[in-house]
Amino acid sequence: MRDLWWNLSRATGIVATVLAVGALVWGLFFSARNTGQLRRPNWWLDLHNWLGGLALIFTGAHLLTVYLNDNSGIGLVQLFIPGTAGTGQWGITWGVIAAYTFAVAVFTSWPRKRLSRRAWRAVHLSSVGGVFLAGIHAFESGSDATKTVFEAGLLAATAFFAYALSVRVLALIARRRAR
Ligand code: HEM
Ligand code: HEM
Repeated sequence: MRDLWWNLSRATGIVATVLAVGALVWGLFFSARNTGQLRRPNWWLDLHNWLGGLALIFTGAHLLTVYLNDNSGIGLVQLFIPGTAGTGQWGITWGVIAAYTFAVAVFTSWPRKRLSRRAWRAVHLSSVGGVFLAGIHAFESGSDATKTVFEAGLLAATAFFAYALSVRVLALIARRRAR
């Protein structure tokens, strides 16, 4: 049983990371209007919303299975309060903060029209830092972090992250220059 929760915690962590990177890339491409001709921009936005919602659901499953794994040393306090996992456990702290940024991104997006655009965007963009922290968390806390295939996956995710972010920043600069 112990192995079951441990295996599930690793699997859900990996799926949550892939979904979060997908949400981030789709969100940045949509906002940069870098969506090509094949699909309408709304298709990209809808997919972004789904990826973001699913990333939060799998993060929830990750937290639950980490908690159920007796060997993880993570209780309710460590799950919800950053910095309580003990010395040398900074990796867990990054994971806790990342989970909060995803929850905030998702739960402020449904009542989005009730918030000012500026405030919503500032809050929403904290999830960019969250995805970055989730990557560091995976690298520092994961038992698979020393495996080549895991490291290659993290490297590929970082490359997608960096590419999408530069596309967004360049589009922002171009738009400002055009004004
Ligand atoms: C883990 C979850 C999520 C992440 C990491 C994420 C990340 C992002 C990022 C990086 C952008 C680009 C913002 C910019 O460059 O200005 C974006 C845009 C957007 N996101 Fe999310 N998001 C998430 C979840 C959601 C959800 C669940 C919804 C809605 C239900 C949503 C709605 C939007 C909308 C409407 C935009 C377009 C903003 C615009 O340019 O008009 N996001 N998101
Ligand atoms: C309260 C927040 C979190 C806690 C307490 C937590 C806890 C943990 C623990 C204890 C491990 C080590 C599991 C093991 O390999 O033995 C782990 C690994 C991992 N976590 Fe989290 N995590 C949190 C948030 C997140 C988030 C938000 C993501 C990504 C969206 C994530 C993705 C991962 C990944 C990819 C691994 C590596 C799995 C592997 O080695 O195969 N975690 N987490």
